[in-house]
Amino acid sequence: MSKKIDGFSKLTKSEKIDWIIKTHFKNTDHAKKQLETYWNSDSSLQTRHDEFIENSLSNFYLPLGVAPNFLINGSFYTLPMVTEESSVVAAAGNAAKFWSTRGGFKTEIKNTLKVGQIHFFFEGNPKELVTFFERRKSDLLKVTIPITKNMQARGGGIMSLDLIDKGDVLLNYYQLHLGFKTADAMGANFINSCLEHLSKSLIQFAKEDKLTNGNKNPIDVVMSILSNYVPECLVHAKISCLIKEFNLENNDVNGETYAKRIVQAVDIAKSEPYRAVTHNKGIMNGVDAMVIATGNDFRAVEAGVHAYAARSGQYRSLSDAYIQEDKFVMELSIPLALGTVGGLTKLHPMVAWCMELLENPSAEKLMEIVAVAGLAQNFAALKSLVTTGIQKGHMKMHLLNILNQLNANDDQKVAAINYFKTEQVSVQAVDDFLEKNKL
Ligand code: MEV
Repeated sequence: MSKKIDGFSKLTKSEKIDWIIKTHFKNTDHAKKQLETYWNSDSSLQTRHDEFIENSLSNFYLPLGVAPNFLINGSFYTLPMVTEESSVVAAAGNAAKFWSTRGGFKTEIKNTLKVGQIHFFFEGNPKELVTFFERRKSDLLKVTIPITKNMQARGGGIMSLDLIDKGDVLLNYYQLHLGFKTADAMGANFINSCLEHLSKSLIQFAKEDKLTNGNKNPIDVVMSILSNYVPECLVHAKISCLIKEFNLENNDVNGETYAKRIVQAVDIAKSEPYRAVTHNKGIMNGVDAMVIATGNDFRAVEAGVHAYAARSGQYRSLSDAYIQEDKFVMELSIPLALGTVGGLTKLHPMVAWCMELLENPSAEKLMEIVAVAGLAQNFAALKSLVTTGIQKGHMKMHLLNILNQLNANDDQKVAAINYFKTEQVSVQAVDDFLEKNKL
């Protein structure tokens, strides 16, 4: 049967499932049952989820874990984390506990400015365009008032509007470059609505003012869209303690040696892209887990963060570590465009639950907590890497996945967890153990 279909989106959910199953799966009963197993028994809740996206057939689970004991600016938080990777939540919990007795995490919002752009071409006289823009700038801002007035009441809105000549990168290319503040919303819809509205007026005003370039459309708008590069929507998180207090439990490495090792590890990530990418991936283990738990756009965050890591022209570590007099200091500056209202925040019941766990934070507070999750994860990874190596802890946390993969029964799992407390975990070692212990 052909795997090509016209009008798929117009089929009912059950018709979509039937077509998918018939055309793509060998064991049709099992494949259909699999989809149904993950439906929510509350049909209104299932409909809610189905309506988030198009062509929804079922749900795709990821575990929600929590990491308690995060002391942030003097208050304790329990962080919700959604991730598929074993040992991420444990690492966060360990770092939180370590720093809870060493002053905790300190954070600061540097700025919350977001960016939107109207990209257009203009072949006429650049001076005429500049004069036109200066004459019409306030009219352009006025047309957005119906969209911006609610946001302005919440302290946001359009913060700046500039005409930028980008002729140095592309012939006749210009931008209207706008700065936005979006209060507690991530703001993508607000920004894009403003931009699209503004771009129509830009074209209309150019016609009214008979801006000339010998072309029918004096201003040729290509697109109007927010930028996910948000270097001015920036949050800073920091940990620091006396080197003499930087001792590690169950570890012979003394505080000073250990602090210097972490500084060296960060120096490597600051200067070497292969290492920098993995180093930053460790940071994103914490950031993404929280961004997903709070219903935010992890693709936007990822794109913006990695662009920021490459802002010098070379991809570098997002975090820094240094020794200052008798103190070890580690810090992270990271751009995070997050929202705590709108989007899925009220619609997804588990997002609402995670927000309540975090005491329904403002967007700025959430930026601070998420940056802390990133710094904690980075610290935990380096702590393992420069001492025991990560595999020891990671494989212990991964043990249950291996046991499940090898179809261990409940008794075997209990016995294996006990046995591997003191033994090195590997797939082969677990397989051998199960072979000898057919409980
Ligand atoms: C694994 O998910 C993350 C680490 O590789 C991060 C790092 O190397 O810093 C452990």
